[in-house]
Amino acid sequence: MASRHYSWLAACNTPLSKITYQQVGACNANEVGAQDHLAFVFFRFQEIDNSKTNAGYSFHPKRLWMNTGDLYSGYDYVATGQQASIFGLSPMLSAVNVAPGATIQVNKYVVFLVETLDPDAPNEANNTSYFLLYNNPENEVGKLLVRSNASQTSWPNTHRCADINFPRQSTCLTCHAIDTKMVGPAFREIAVKYKGKADAQEKLVAQIAGAKGHPAVDSSATEVRALIKWILSM
Ligand code: HEC
Repeated sequence: MASRHYSWLAACNTPLSKITYQQVGACNANEVGAQDHLAFVFFRFQEIDNSKTNAGYSFHPKRLWMNTGDLYSGYDYVATGQQASIFGLSPMLSAVNVAPGATIQVNKYVVFLVETLDPDAPNEANNTSYFLLYNNPENEVGKLLVRSNASQTSWPNTHRCADINFPRQSTCLTCHAIDTKMVGPAFREIAVKYKGKADAQEKLVAQIAGAKGHPAVDSSATEVRALIKWILSM
């Protein structure tokens, strides 16, 4: 195995390029023919802030790896655009050219395959915080990878890979995010607001699908119902 360069070792006083990402969920890898004990874990890359450096570089997801502590070691990223199309994922992160001084909004996904002790792999993966590292090329500007939802250890219950893909196919995520307020409230906040209210699901479906007090959406009522169910399960 090629030796791995730790960006934080190279970088005591040198300005770093800061890369922000979130862990967003996990699903059952056995859906695409793998065995139990395997989950796909999804990360969303949010921003590359290279404003503190005067060096450009190409950021490549192939250089990402996962340090999972004692139990696991060095899972490499799995989904290239082509593999991702097996389960319809998009947009996947591919190489990003980062100019000197630039800040880039990335908003693309990376998937890792992890092995779990629990045969119900997404159950364990959704209760585990995974952190990503970058195998930095020698002599390249240091990368600081920051997980913006670092303390979170329970993601939306997303056993089916198709459910992860779901919200991205609809336009909801142009105005909503899972954890942060954008134009609309965070999905997790909505889930809290309606917790324990039995009639919430149908009320929200009518409101969103019928565009009553909510911007019009281009999803069918059936799709909105499934999305609302997913949101309220968070
Ligand atoms: C054009 C922007 C936009 C889009 C697209 C959008 N929303 Fe919203 N959403 C909002 C705003 C703004 C609010 C807060 C005001 C409100 O409740 O209407 C909101 C509120 C909500 C609420 C909470 C309503 C309440 O009464 O508490 C839910 C649930 C919701 N959106 C679901 C969705 C779903 C599902 C989709 C995709 C099918 C979606 N939204 C797409 C802007 C948007």
